Amino acid sequence: MAHRLPAFPVWLTPKRDIERMKLPTKVKLVDVGPRDGLQNEKAPVPAAVKIELVHRLQDAGLTEIEVTSFVSPKWVPQMADAASVMAGIRRQPGVRYSVLIPNMKGFEAAVAAPRAFWPDEIVVFGAASEAFSQRNINCSIAESIERFAPVVQAARAAGIHVRGAMSCAVGCPYEGEIAPERVGYLAGLMKGIGVQHIGVADTIGVGTPRKVQRAMEAALRHYAIDDVSGHFHDTYGQALANTLATLEMGVWQFDASIAGLGGCPYAKGATGNVATEDVVYMLQGMGIETGIDLDKLLDAGKFISDFLERKPNSRAAVALLNQRAA
Ligand code: HMG
Ligand code: MG
Repeated sequence: MAHRLPAFPVWLTPKRDIERMKLPTKVKLVDVGPRDGLQNEKAPVPAAVKIELVHRLQDAGLTEIEVTSFVSPKWVPQMADAASVMAGIRRQPGVRYSVLIPNMKGFEAAVAAPRAFWPDEIVVFGAASEAFSQRNINCSIAESIERFAPVVQAARAAGIHVRGAMSCAVGCPYEGEIAPERVGYLAGLMKGIGVQHIGVADTIGVGTPRKVQRAMEAALRHYAIDDVSGHFHDTYGQALANTLATLEMGVWQFDASIAGLGGCPYAKGATGNVATEDVVYMLQGMGIETGIDLDKLLDAGKFISDFLERKPNSRAAVALLNQRAA
């Protein structure tokens, strides 16, 4: 008599497991490489190189690019050429170009140019930690909200979308662990002044999946799922896991940095964001649409890494470039 195999248990079939997860079918990535990625580079990167990087990212299919910051050049010298970079970009329809703005002076500088060079979106950036707020933007959380309020109003009146970044949403280099309640508190303040979208940022990359989910949950008390994003630095190698953990909550917008470039000048030792190449590789493997051409993305990462004379800080990029060369 032929041996009869036991039936494969239904609860173990991959289909059922995948169905249980509330995974989005599409993800939007914001490449923050030209801004977050380059802001910490010691040697000046010419505006022409920054512009070329933006062009290569849009050619690869990125539909949102964080281009630069209108901040004090004494604080972040690398971003002193913000106006030239904005004026040099060849705009592509369907692409949103964003810039960081800390105060009214920054906003005025961003819109001093002809309208064609204005950002489509500004990012006001606060922190869930008091100490980080002081170090990064030289004011308390309460003062930062007072500064942002007129900026948000002016931007929205000009038809510019407003995103908010919340630094240190899980941990702070000066205060240690940050409770989710503090993320909720800042998200509520941002919502109150009209910030339309909020990014939950793990500035120093200390977050692990459950902690990051709790921080995201706190933001979701004030913002809808379509108005939140994850911004995860990879200092402890957790950024891809944190991306997946929040993807499973239904979050479908993430910041990532080409070639894993970057760090924040006011968070010593913090490394770059999760590499765009790594996120795209993961999402493609999961059948989640990004609209990004991984091959062209590799070229963009190689372009900036060659300029900086280092390897891309992306495991997927290094492996794929090695395969290409073989
Ligand atoms: P302050 O010194 O308190 O400002 O700095 P102030 O209003 O007293 O002005 C002092 C000087 O700065 C004056 O010039 C102003 O004109 C000038 P002076 O009279 O001495 O010649 N100034 C400006 N110049 C150009 N653009 C401006 C501007 N504002 C004032 N917008 C300030 C306050 C916020 C300006 C300063 O602290 C600053 O620029 N900080 C920027 C910090 C920064 O860019 N950090 C990195 C980005 S945030 C980040 O990376 C985190 C994120 O990725 C999320 C995450 O990962 O956590 C977003
Ligand atoms: Mg950052």
